[in-house]
Amino acid sequence: MDKISKKIRKHLRIVQTYEGVDSNINLSKKSGIPTKHLIRLNANENPYGTINEVKNSLQDISLHEYPDPEQKILRKAISEYVHLPDNLIIAGAGGDEIIDLILRLFINEKDEVIDCIPTFGMYNFAAKLSNSSIISISRKNNWELDIEKIISKITDKTKVIFIASPNNPTGNLTKEEQIIELLETGIIVCLDETYFEFSNFSLSHLLNKYSNLIIIRSFSKWAGIAGLRVGYAISSEIIIKHLMDIKQPYNVNVAAEKAVIQTLKYKDKLFENVKKLMDEKVRLEEYVKTCNNVTSFPSHANFVLCKFSEFSSQKIYDFFAAEGIFTRKFDQKMLENCIRISAGTPEQTDKVISVISKIEKSNNI
Ligand SMILES: Cc1ncc(COP(=O)(O)O)c(C=O)c1O
Repeated sequence: MDKISKKIRKHLRIVQTYEGVDSNINLSKKSGIPTKHLIRLNANENPYGTINEVKNSLQDISLHEYPDPEQKILRKAISEYVHLPDNLIIAGAGGDEIIDLILRLFINEKDEVIDCIPTFGMYNFAAKLSNSSIISISRKNNWELDIEKIISKITDKTKVIFIASPNNPTGNLTKEEQIIELLETGIIVCLDETYFEFSNFSLSHLLNKYSNLIIIRSFSKWAGIAGLRVGYAISSEIIIKHLMDIKQPYNVNVAAEKAVIQTLKYKDKLFENVKKLMDEKVRLEEYVKTCNNVTSFPSHANFVLCKFSEFSSQKIYDFFAAEGIFTRKFDQKMLENCIRISAGTPEQTDKVISVISKIEKSNNI
């Protein structure tokens, strides 16, 4: 091993990096389709983007000044939105940073983190970076949590359990009684409600009773500002205090801060786009029901997990990509023949439906 590699912390010497979504330049190179014709349905982004009230507000921000390390105005705006006090809220550079901060706070070397697969890959990645062992527990066939199995895997090293609800990529919600069962163990339960505005289902009322509950939310998907990177956590006063103590002082930049404040001021306008996306999600699900070679799993979020009977995930991905449509494919055995398609505009759904209908007609793509 070379001298520099030897100096690197052992658990970080060989890291399987998190594969984020490809840039438009890469997608264009891979497909030969000009960037302006690409249809990105691979990251559950909001194709409507944000609204002018948010965009215009970014003109007059003081870019030379650091943001407020205490996030006072930002936390107050989020507090009014979630109807909970601002000392129970912390904002981060996306839900991703919140996940990372939680693990920085709780993990000692060799502690254990539980996730329930298939699920959002960031839990596994962040756990590995924190030098914990990730215990991945398979969901049941209908993607529900296998609570008995989870409980049986809890040891005195288990620190954090991550549950996304709606889950990415399966789209299903987790039942309240299951979350309560996990909370009763005393372990830190991170309930990731990144897709809350699409599902309209939250367990935030449990925060009153359980100080070990952390709810994660995001502005990336419903508010159409994924590029600005803002997410937040709601939890007990004690957990938020410690997260505030360890975060980088200027983790949410001034543009992101302003955009969130305006987003919340004009939230009803943004909810109109949320409604449009959910209508398109339903349209896609309804179309799939009429197909012979593809099924979908009921989804409470702005995406649909589709399973094709004949073709591999890669083949289906390639077939869509050749038409300029980018979806999310998976390597895991449990998601064999599956791709996840984000809800798009009506025109984008038309194109997706036309590609699926071509797949339906063809036995040999
Ligand atoms: C379940 C879930 N949690 C968190 C995130 C992170 O979102 P962001 O970091 O953009 O807020 C995502 C993004 O895909 C997600 O699917």
